[in-house]
Amino acid sequence: MIEWDAATIKDFQTTLLDWFDHEGRDLPWRHDHEPYHVWVSEIMLQQTQVQTVIPYYQRFMALFPTVADLAAAPESQLLKAWEGLGYYSRVRNMQRCAKQLLTDYDGQWPQTAAELTELIGIGPYTAGAIASIAFNEPVPAVDGNAYRVFSRLLKIDADIAKPQTRAAFERVISQIISQERPGDFNQAIMDLGSSYMTARQPDTAHSPVKRFNQAYLDGDELAYPVKTKKPRPKPVAYVAVLAKMQDQWLMTKRPSNGMLANLWTVPLIPIADLDLDDDYQPEELVTAVENYFKREYQLQLTAHYLTGRPVTHTFTHQKWTIQGLSGQVGLSDLAYFAGQTFTLIERQKLPMPKVQEKIFARYSID
Ligand code: ADE
Repeated sequence: MIEWDAATIKDFQTTLLDWFDHEGRDLPWRHDHEPYHVWVSEIMLQQTQVQTVIPYYQRFMALFPTVADLAAAPESQLLKAWEGLGYYSRVRNMQRCAKQLLTDYDGQWPQTAAELTELIGIGPYTAGAIASIAFNEPVPAVDGNAYRVFSRLLKIDADIAKPQTRAAFERVISQIISQERPGDFNQAIMDLGSSYMTARQPDTAHSPVKRFNQAYLDGDELAYPVKTKKPRPKPVAYVAVLAKMQDQWLMTKRPSNGMLANLWTVPLIPIADLDLDDDYQPEELVTAVENYFKREYQLQLTAHYLTGRPVTHTFTHQKWTIQGLSGQVGLSDLAYFAGQTFTLIERQKLPMPKVQEKIFARYSID
């Protein structure tokens, strides 16, 4: 990350606000600084883009011109006004917030971001937007636009998928925000983020703040913001062998390190270890497992394919799909097998992972 000195900050503020004065968008919620107008527009803008929001906003204001009208609205009318925007809990929360304002705040909006976050449905972004736009408090409003714009300007490489990153951005932006015109500053950042500084196709060559955009100057604009994706759990296919030796269940204890350490399961064999073709038939799976038992455990298994949906279980990094086989093992010693046999009563007392419970629940045999 780079840092700006006081002169650069001043230069940036002037450049940004000049641009906003000349080219900022004329939007219906910008005609005044009423907190009610700012609030409604900000909640709607969390759902969808500006062009879609405009007619919704105008209809909403015609139906519910004040906080008191919103508080008194029948729910059906409220939901109708929101139809198509999605996340209906948002508009229900708005009505709860309107009632809260009337009963607990005498109908007067609190004027700082800190107090605004006490209201139902108002998080740090919305509180920052209302406090800065309606009440001129110099606080940031950090949404996706602000993350994108400031991470590129300053090459901030904190991971925006992490919750603690918001506070880091708020600290940085607090140093840069205009003390005189914080609301216009925040809205100019939103406008930059949806025009010259978009996620995939920024047009920085024409941007008013191009010379402040360090990521652009370094040619790696699209690397910002940094956002880690959680990898999808990797699919792994297993066979579970629910087998008895005489009338006792064959169970294995997992190694003392790795996944499900020290827990007991029926023998679970990765299908990838069975040397089958991709389009194997059930009988081929059965034969491959019987051979595996002979080779690896010196056990004579006679197995049957269990019908019904395979069991699935998702861990953080793996998604298991487990096909069950039932079976009988010829009497022999278990010298080559990492486990023991148990009566049903004994088996029920073993420490078992959730996935094993699912396997027994799906293939209830005794
Ligand atoms: N996106 C989020 N808030 C906005 C606002 N007030 N104006 C334009 N775009 C926005």
